[in-house]
Amino acid sequence: MITRPKGTYDIYGKEAKYYNYINAVFQRVAELYNYEYIRTPIFEDSSLFHRSVGETTDIVSKETYDFKDRGDRDITLRPEGTAGVVRSYIENKMYGDVNQPKKFYYSGTMYRYERPQAGRYREFSQIGVEAIGSDSPLMDAEVISLAYRLLEEMGIDNVTVKINSLGDNESRNNYREALIKYLEPHIDNLCSDCKNRYKSNPLRILDCKVDKDSEILKNAPSILDYLNKESKERFDKVIEYLTQLDVDYEIAPNIVRGLDYYNHTVFELVADIEDLGNASTVAAGGRYNNLVGNLEGPETPCVGFASGVDRLMIILDKITKENIDNKVDVYVMAINEEERITALKLVQDLRWCEIKCEMDTLDRGMKAQFKQADRLGARLLVLLNSEDLQKGIMTVKDNLTHEEVKVDENEIIDYIVSNM
Ligand code: HAM
Repeated sequence: MITRPKGTYDIYGKEAKYYNYINAVFQRVAELYNYEYIRTPIFEDSSLFHRSVGETTDIVSKETYDFKDRGDRDITLRPEGTAGVVRSYIENKMYGDVNQPKKFYYSGTMYRYERPQAGRYREFSQIGVEAIGSDSPLMDAEVISLAYRLLEEMGIDNVTVKINSLGDNESRNNYREALIKYLEPHIDNLCSDCKNRYKSNPLRILDCKVDKDSEILKNAPSILDYLNKESKERFDKVIEYLTQLDVDYEIAPNIVRGLDYYNHTVFELVADIEDLGNASTVAAGGRYNNLVGNLEGPETPCVGFASGVDRLMIILDKITKENIDNKVDVYVMAINEEERITALKLVQDLRWCEIKCEMDTLDRGMKAQFKQADRLGARLLVLLNSEDLQKGIMTVKDNLTHEEVKVDENEIIDYIVSNM
């Protein structure tokens, strides 16, 4: 038997319901905030991710799915959605559009060669937004509140936004120097990954999963003390707007994020749900004002976030009380060919009227059809029999009260619609 590749899984049954539900809520909320749908390729030229996500990040150095295609091109399965959206913005010259900022939402599968565990997969789905072309702190607040609202809409309300600022280039460079100086005498006591990060990307040491509880990191200088005046004022504005919008936030100076393109605001939405561990970060994002310029577009400020659909599915399963199994409204029962043809037409007419219904296609007997109707949770049964059909009537049985009513075949649709 051929089995699925490690770190992937099939979405069906209950999980498929959650998956579709999450995407439907996301689409509705994103459109309310006036974001437009964008779809970019699942694979891109490898250099796009090297130049955006960053050579020294875990994602690019250890986790990408890279291959040569038959034309000897270097291709990478996208590990995230931001780089593709920015590439598309530049390539399609959307900066020339009079309608700015451009606000996009997307949904799709991403690929990272990670160690699979609960809520962490090699193929996973993200929903996300990118607002391209506004440097206003209002835009940061809109994007963060959209993420927050999205989770609230799904009934996930014990969520905290952890927020930090990496400042502009000057603030970040000053902080980098201070951090290197502080860490120098301690570096031998940190994990081997941190030793490498010390040379390549020292800020990443701050959110190391191995050393996160060590006194060394707890006592490290805070980036917020190194923000220059402009960066600090900007961060204060974002915080003020979030307060006005009633978003539950916590300032978290250790959040630096695992992708290189960020500056100024960075944030993570963390759900207070048991057993999720590191997977409790359900959404994350930030501002990335240099990325469009770095990819040879005109300097353009951007902010966005992405949320892990697979993690949201786990949470919805934990918090959902009602049974979300596949239920139908009506089951139409037919035994012989005459009844089957009537049933076939009736279920079609009912479906046109938005009634979810089912009939037998496995040649089941009467008893087995009753059982199947129960399994499907049908509210009403339509019992067809040839004798009744001659007289132009059909029997409708209420599966809760067990009451039966004879209904004229010309009135059957109206009867069912008004009794649902
Ligand atoms: P990220 O933090 O790498 O950011 O991923 C965003 C979210 O995707 C995470 O918070 C998590 O919920 C989910 N996620 C990440 N990796 C996995 C995985 N292996 N399995 C399941 N879920 C996962 C980004 O991707 C940025 N592009 C976000 C962004 C958009 N920043 C600005 N705009």
